[in-house]
Amino acid sequence: MSPIQLDTDATIDDLLDIMRKRRSCRRYLDEPVDDALIQNILEAGRWAPSGCSSEPWELIVVRDEAIRNELADVYVDLRKYSEDADTGPDGFPFPDMNYIRVAPAFVVVVGDRRLNRTYPQLFYRYDIYQQSMASCMQNMFLAAAAQGLGATWISMGNKMEDPLNKMFDIPEGYRIEFLLAVGWPDLKREVRDRRPLSELVHHERFDHARARSDESISGYVAGLRSRRRNDRELSGETPTSLGHGT
Ligand SMILES: Cc1cc2nc3c(=O)[nH]c(=O)nc-3n(C[C@H](O)[C@H](O)[C@H](O)COP(=O)(O)O)c2cc1C
Repeated sequence: MSPIQLDTDATIDDLLDIMRKRRSCRRYLDEPVDDALIQNILEAGRWAPSGCSSEPWELIVVRDEAIRNELADVYVDLRKYSEDADTGPDGFPFPDMNYIRVAPAFVVVVGDRRLNRTYPQLFYRYDIYQQSMASCMQNMFLAAAAQGLGATWISMGNKMEDPLNKMFDIPEGYRIEFLLAVGWPDLKREVRDRRPLSELVHHERFDHARARSDESISGYVAGLRSRRRNDRELSGETPTSLGHGT
């Protein structure tokens, strides 16, 4: 008996190629992005899986320059909080977020937490809601990459919550969960490796020989931090203008 197949010509190689080559973009060209491309990104978000088919997302498309600048002001201001809070070896090198002013489009990803009640009480309902929101985000992230666009996954925190809710007129019961910046990249980024499967895949049960000690986690985080500090995109190195499609 042959297995049931999806009715598509797309191959796993195409999918893996986009997944491997996608990089976060934090430098954008000051050039518009066609509506059709944004529409594809929204369509990808719409098709994301969600817990109990709750589809808890609402997507606000932002192109207006004044709003983008207002948004940038909020995130750029946060750098000083991060400098105070993120000290020591785990200190997070907060990027220069002025790129928000340049990125020509944003999707504000809003969730409806009231849909938590679609999930069985037995489960961690809030986690399922968040995971559903993240799956929408991931679909959009990949759809941007598949079209040659750069995108940034921008998180939320309590310092930005009030100003952003006000800026986008978010009704009671809804919450902004993420922002997705979209535009043409102004810096070509190297493909970045990931932890190898041989290190992270276990068979049948957790292989304790590969459980990471607290010490190795500390070393790992320190490595991530120094890699981030040296990241060309984040360190302020002058970008090379690439133009579209490169
Ligand atoms: C849940 C989540 C939250 C993230 N939050 C941010 C963020 O606030 N700002 C940002 O610049 N990148 C953010 N990122 C992007 C990660 O930093 C990035 O994916 C990671 O460093 C790997 O780099 P790559 O995307 O270039 O492969 C986030 C990614 C995820 C999945």
